[in-house]
Amino acid sequence: MTVKEKLKGLFEKNRGRYLSGEEIAADLGCTRGAVWKAVRSLEDEGYRIDAVTNKGYCMLSENDIISEEGIKKYLSSGDKNKIVVLKQTDSTNLRLKEIAAEGATEGTLVVAGEQTAGRGRLGRTFASPPDSGVYMSLLLRPEMGASDAIRITTAAAVAVAEVAEQLTGRKTGIKWVNDIYCEGRKVCGILTEASFNVEFGGFDYAVLGIGINVYEPEGGFPDELKSVAGALLPERVPDLRNRMIAGIVNRFTELYRNIGDSTYLDAYEKRLMWKGEKINIISPKGTSAAVLKGIDHECGLVVEYPDGTEGVISSGEISIRKN
Ligand code: BTN
Repeated sequence: MTVKEKLKGLFEKNRGRYLSGEEIAADLGCTRGAVWKAVRSLEDEGYRIDAVTNKGYCMLSENDIISEEGIKKYLSSGDKNKIVVLKQTDSTNLRLKEIAAEGATEGTLVVAGEQTAGRGRLGRTFASPPDSGVYMSLLLRPEMGASDAIRITTAAAVAVAEVAEQLTGRKTGIKWVNDIYCEGRKVCGILTEASFNVEFGGFDYAVLGIGINVYEPEGGFPDELKSVAGALLPERVPDLRNRMIAGIVNRFTELYRNIGDSTYLDAYEKRLMWKGEKINIISPKGTSAAVLKGIDHECGLVVEYPDGTEGVISSGEISIRKN
C-alpha cells in the first residue's frame, strides 16, 4: 500500500480532526516529507485538507469523494469485499465481468466516478456523468436457476430504495422491474448481467450493476433525459456517496442471504408504482393496455386486461409505462 493510500485511510477514520505531521508519520511509518507529498497528492484528487501550523492536517468533513477507504469505513463485512474504485471507466459491469472471468470472489465491488459507456436494460445506455452519481457493480456467484435471476434485481431495488430513503429522507417508488423513482423522476437503474454455465446448469457469475443519480450533473441532465431523469438531492452532503455504496452492499447482502424466501418482496410491493392504475405494457410484439395489480412470488407483474382476465408478465424484453 502506498503512503497516499494509507493516509487516505487514516484521514477517513479521522474526518474533521487535526492530526500532526509527526503523529501521521509515526502511524504510517514514513517521513514527514512523505506525509506532506501524500497530502498534496490527495488535494490533487480533489480532497479538501486543512493545514494549520502547530495543529497539523485535517481532512474536512465536507468531502464527498468516492474511495475504497471511504467505502470500507461503512461496510459491515469489514475488509471482506475486494473493492476497485476507478475515476472513469466505460462500464463497471464490463470491468467486473473481466475480473469475474479471472476468478474473482463473490462480493468483489467495482465503483466508478464516471462511465463513458454505461449500460442499461434492453440495450439502452445509462448516462453516467462525472462526480454526481454512484455507478457500482457487485459480483455474485449465485446458486439459483436462471429463472430466479430476477430476484437479484428486485432485491437490489429494495436495498437501494431503503438506503436512499434512510440517507436522504426522501420517499422512493419502484417502477417494475428495475427502476427507482423519486418525485416522478428516475433516480436509479439496475442491470443484472450473468454468465450461465450450460454444462452444469448454473451461474458462473452474476454482475449486479446499480446506477444512481445522487446529484444533478454539472450543466444539468442531457436534453433527452430532462423529462425523465432526476437527482436524489439538490445539494451535496458530506461523505454521502461512500455511505450510500456501503449501505447498499450491506443491505443487499442481508437480503441476498435469504433471497429464495420472497419475504423481501413485501418491501418491493410496498413501493411498487402505479398499483391499481392503467399502464401500457411494451414488448417487441407491440403495446397493450392493462391495470397493474401487483407482483407475484416469482417477481412477475400481475395485471388485469380490459376483458377482465388476469395475466402475469415476466421481465424479459418487456417494459411498462403509465397510460
Ligand atoms: C437501466 O436503467 O436500464 C439500468 C441502468 C444500470 C446502470 C448501472 S451503472 C453501474 C452498472 N454499469 C453499467 O454499465 N450499468 C450499470
